[in-house]
Amino acid sequence: MKALITGASSGLGKDFAIELSKQGYDLVLVSRSEDKLLDLKKELNTNVEIETMDLSIMDNVIKLHNKYSNKIDLLINNAGFGTFGKFYETDLLVELNMIDLNIKTYHVLTKLFLIDFVKRDSGRILNVASSAAFQPGPLMDTYYSTKAYVYSMSMGIYEELRRDKSNVKINILCPGPVDTSFNDRAKVSFGVKSLKSIDVVRYAIKCMNKNKLVIIPSLKMKISVFANRFLSRKSVIKITYNIQKSKIN
Ligand SMILES: NC(=O)c1ccc[n+]([C@@H]2O[C@H](COP(=O)([O-])OP(=O)(O)OC[C@H]3O[C@@H](n4cnc5c(N)ncnc54)[C@H](OP(=O)(O)O)[C@@H]3O)[C@@H](O)[C@H]2O)c1
Repeated sequence: MKALITGASSGLGKDFAIELSKQGYDLVLVSRSEDKLLDLKKELNTNVEIETMDLSIMDNVIKLHNKYSNKIDLLINNAGFGTFGKFYETDLLVELNMIDLNIKTYHVLTKLFLIDFVKRDSGRILNVASSAAFQPGPLMDTYYSTKAYVYSMSMGIYEELRRDKSNVKINILCPGPVDTSFNDRAKVSFGVKSLKSIDVVRYAIKCMNKNKLVIIPSLKMKISVFANRFLSRKSVIKITYNIQKSKIN
């Protein structure tokens, strides 16, 4: 079995690589930081290929698919980032880059590998969304919106595959705060306790293998997502604003 993991140089992607390698997977690891990927490769005991590229550039994404078309069994769409601030104050170009990486790259890789998988009637896609997918996110508007896109697209695909009685599977990972480099890039710190990346990854792999569609690590986050459904959207945005505001460094 072979898995392609985007954003494998740190955080969740790196831990997915470590755990899947322990389970015997050969790996294709993708990110911009060649040095970090090479260091990680040294730690792993299965066959590892490194692809150093900026995945917010669609030409790179297409080339990546061309190279690994019909050569992988599991795609983990994970590379992503967020920014913090009021929508009318944040940087437009950074947000467009985020939309490229968090939406377009997920969209393109999901589509192209799904076509391969459906043809041979096997394969799995794990799309890393976030608990941010379930509601609007004042002070992180663009990030929350990108994760809602990934969640919604993946849910729709799930139903199409189910109706076709396909053996191809899709899962959506929706963690709350996780202790990774995410916050450094977003220039914030979590106001609430964060989960360990390795625990999130172990839980995600377990649920993925049980074909659980939406994977929400931690009971607290599950309760919060459940309670969210019974609140008005206006109440939810007030609460989310307060949570986000507590993140300012
Ligand atoms: N941490 C959280 O609290 C949390 C919660 C829910 C969901 N998530 C989601 O989990 C995913 C992984 O994030 P993380 O928390 O593990 O953060 P992280 O430690 O910052 O990892 C992000 C990964 O994405 C890669 N990446 C970023 N920009 C890229 C680009 N343009 N091209 C290629 N690779 C790129 C980074 O590698 P390079 O810098 O080497 O390119 C890195 O490997 C993201 O989609 C994030 O939205 C995170």
